[in-house]
Amino acid sequence: MELLGLLILAPAVLVHVWSFALFLFRGRGTPLPFAPPTQFVTQGPYRYSRNPMALSVICGAAGLSLYLRSPLGLVVSAGLALTLHLWVTRIEEPGLVRRFGEPYVGYCRRVPRWLPGTPAIAVVVSLLLSPLPGCQSASRDESYAPGLGEIMSLTQMRHLKLWFAGRADNWALAAYETDELEEGFSDVVRFHPTHEGSPTPLSRLVPEFTAGPIEALRSAIEHRDPVEFTAAYDSLTRGCNGCHRAAAFSFNVVERPSANPYSNQRFQPPR
Ligand code: HEC
Repeated sequence: MELLGLLILAPAVLVHVWSFALFLFRGRGTPLPFAPPTQFVTQGPYRYSRNPMALSVICGAAGLSLYLRSPLGLVVSAGLALTLHLWVTRIEEPGLVRRFGEPYVGYCRRVPRWLPGTPAIAVVVSLLLSPLPGCQSASRDESYAPGLGEIMSLTQMRHLKLWFAGRADNWALAAYETDELEEGFSDVVRFHPTHEGSPTPLSRLVPEFTAGPIEALRSAIEHRDPVEFTAAYDSLTRGCNGCHRAAAFSFNVVERPSANPYSNQRFQPPR
């Protein structure tokens, strides 16, 4: 028991001193609230845990209690862990997010709050204890879903570029724009399977209105055939408008572009 206590206590003290030194010299400040560091530290133990100092205090207390064979000490250590957890999640992290912004949120994404592979029980406990936003929750909504309007604006641009690529016999560019259009359509299915106002789910409308035209475009591009391309292009445009009508968006009509606003891109095939 004493040995186990020492095995926990010794590294805890070491980590504590190391973290403290980094705070002083790299962070140019102290852990004390009235003289905080001017930059957040990410080296040394901070590479593996965002809170090595608090962690080492908890482990130090637990190690000492084991060494002294003190059940009361263990209870106090558990109370200490709970208190520090609450302090870190509710006060410290929101404050750091406010002070350092995006770089700190990025650091939260890379480095765990306590330890890599924090045991499941700790995760459960922290979920129960921290309904308030710490920085973990700031990083949770990092996955960004494009809006349907944004996807459609890109689709509109691809639609236009596809036309000028095909007119210029730039089949490689036309193939690329076709791929991008298809990717946009699968993003519609993925991010917006349904749409308010549309009686039919978009996940059904997309294949119905785009699969045939995309296939016809691929074939025309493969044959490098301008006549076939024009017919396939018009069928795509009809598909766009068919879907807009089916989605109760019939006032939005697209057509063959008449002029190219992208004067900074060459549509002729490179020689
Ligand atoms: C899944 C059916 C569907 C298909 C296929 C589709 N659209 Fe749309 N499109 C919509 C819906 C729904 C909206 C309305 C989006 C919104 O409510 O923000 C829209 C909006 C638009 C807008 C208006 C964006 C704006 O801000 O003005 C344009 C332009 C557009 N689509 C172009 C196209 C083009 C070009 C194609 C074909 C290459 C196409 N769409 C294919 C469903 C579709």
